[in-house]
Amino acid sequence: MLFISCGRFTLAALSPGRRRLVILISGRGSNMQALVQACRQEDWPADVSAVIASRPDAPGLQWAREAGIPTASVHHRDYAGREAFDTALAQEIDRHRPDYIILAGFMRVLTPGFVNRYTGRLVNIHPSLLPAFPGLHTHGQALATGVQVHGCTVHFVTPLLDHGPIIAQACVPVLPGDTPEILAERVLGMEHRVFPAAVRWLAEDRVSLTADHRVQVQGDPVRLYMWSGGDTAAR
Ligand code: GRF
Repeated sequence: MLFISCGRFTLAALSPGRRRLVILISGRGSNMQALVQACRQEDWPADVSAVIASRPDAPGLQWAREAGIPTASVHHRDYAGREAFDTALAQEIDRHRPDYIILAGFMRVLTPGFVNRYTGRLVNIHPSLLPAFPGLHTHGQALATGVQVHGCTVHFVTPLLDHGPIIAQACVPVLPGDTPEILAERVLGMEHRVFPAAVRWLAEDRVSLTADHRVQVQGDPVRLYMWSGGDTAAR
């Protein structure tokens, strides 16, 4: 595979043909399901080549198996440290020759070596409007700080945790009476819309980076998704 260098960030020049996507999960995998369903229903020029979990009991694995997708798990507890885990994970990923590796609720911090191996091909969804609230407990952080708007971000992964060029975002209001759980549910509904949209642009080879490390999408689609009510958590 060739790479096009663009300042300190590099975007992959992909091989011809259908894009191969490998999705990494740690838990229930609702984002993974949204991606698989959109890929199939909307007939993307892409296939989900494998779903790999960081634990063998991740509930999302069974759904993927039933959907006919090859699955694997690389259990972080089987490895002495992050480096060893990331090496084993990379070996499993590379078996599937992916163009893009999609982190869909993958709850492990990745080493710089792993991230750099997949520069420009590693994409994450984070449940906040980055750069606000990197890390864990984002919904609680949003409530604690009193922000009135919250959401999620699809971004390229760089070695700095929960940073990297932003591909798309979705926002929701913070409503009176919200708990972290209610807010998480509202954000998740938007994750299931914005993540498939962004990954589809990747599958269609429409995403590039400017010299100052911002994302451009051919055709200039709307890259901010707005909540318009209707979830069970809204009052
Ligand atoms: C999502 O909110 C995702 O943004 C975060 O973890 C959650 C995973 O949910 N990183 P699911 O496994 O996709 O249902």
